[in-house]
Amino acid sequence: MSQLESIQTPVKEELKQFADIFETALSHENPLLGMALEHLKKRTGKRMRPVLVLLCARLTGRVNDAVLNAAAALELLHTASLVHDDVVDESDTRRGQLSVNALSGNKVAVLVGDYLLSVALQLAAKTQNTEVVGVVAQLGQTLADGELLQLANTKKQELSEASYYEVIRKKTASLFSACAQVGAILAGGSGEEVERMRRFGQLVGMCFQLRDDIFDFDDKADTGKPAGNDMKEGKLTLPVIHALNKAADDGMTALAMKVRRGEATAQEIDSLVAFTREQEGIAYAEWAMDEFRYMAAGLIPEDADQAVVEALRHYVDYVAQRNK
Ligand code: IPE
Ligand code: IPE
Ligand code: MG
Ligand code: MG
Repeated sequence: MSQLESIQTPVKEELKQFADIFETALSHENPLLGMALEHLKKRTGKRMRPVLVLLCARLTGRVNDAVLNAAAALELLHTASLVHDDVVDESDTRRGQLSVNALSGNKVAVLVGDYLLSVALQLAAKTQNTEVVGVVAQLGQTLADGELLQLANTKKQELSEASYYEVIRKKTASLFSACAQVGAILAGGSGEEVERMRRFGQLVGMCFQLRDDIFDFDDKADTGKPAGNDMKEGKLTLPVIHALNKAADDGMTALAMKVRRGEATAQEIDSLVAFTREQEGIAYAEWAMDEFRYMAAGLIPEDADQAVVEALRHYVDYVAQRNK
C-alpha cells in the first residue's frame, strides 16, 4: 500500500462519495466551459485537502453530507486557485498535462477559475452552516492576498524570511487550516477541538509549501509541474533567501534582484541555484520544514479512533517526505 493510500484508508468510502459530488460539479453544457471542466476531471491531483477535511471530521464525529459538500467546496476552491495561478505564473503544465491556459488561453482560464470559485461557494452554502460559509469566503480572500503579496515581493529589495512565511501562510497554509477547521466544525467538535485542528492544518500547510519549494530545486522530482520554475517566475523561496542572508555576497544579491525582475538568463539562475546549494540553503529549508512537521504531529489528539490518528500521522509524514 502506498503512503497516500494508507492516509486514505479510514475514509475510503467517504472519498468515493466526495468524488461523486466533485465530478457532478465539474460538468456543464456550455461547450467551452464543459471542455475545460472535462480536461480538469482527467487528472485529479492528490486530494490532500478533501482527505484532511474527512479525517478531521472523523476525529471528532462522523462524515455527514455537510462534511462531503465542504470537502468538495474546498477542493474546488483549490482547483480554481491553481487554474488562476497557472495564468499568473504563465505555466503550461499542471498535474502532468496541459494547464487550462495552455489548452484554451488566458481568457478562458480566468473565466473558468471564476466559475469554479462560484461553484465552491455554492457547495459551501449547501452545508447550511454560516460559520463554514464564512471560513470558505475568508479563505478566497486570503489566497488572493497571498498571491498578490508574492507578486509585490518581486518588485522589492527586501529578502526576509518573515515575508516569505507570510506569503506561504496565506497562499497555501490557509487552505489546509480551513480544511481541518471545517471538518472539525461540521462533525460537531468543541471550540477547543476546532481551534486545535485549525492550527494543525496551518502547520501542515506550511510544511507542504516548504516541501514544494524544496522540490523546485530538484530536476528529478516527478511533480507533474516544471522544476526550476520559481526563479524563472521571479520567485525567491526560503533556500535561496537563507543562502543570500547568510553569505551577504553583493554579486549574488544583485543577481537575485535580476531574477526578481525577470531579467536573469538560464545560466545566471543555474549559478544562483549552485550558490544556494553551497550555502546549504536547501538543508536549512528542510530543517525549517521539519520544525513545522513536529509541531503539527504534536497536535494530533491521541485519544480518538486509532485508525484516524494513524492516518493523520501518516498525513504529516507524507507532506514532509512526499516525492510528488
Ligand atoms: C499545488 O498543490 C499547489 C501548492 C500549494 C504547491 P498540490 O500539490 O496539492 O496539487 P494537486 O491538487 O495534488 O495537483
Ligand atoms: C500554487 O502556488 C497556488 C497557490 C498556492 C494559490 P505556486 O505557484 O507556488 O505553486 P505551483 O508550483 O504552481 O503549484
Ligand atoms: Mg504556480
Ligand atoms: Mg504561483
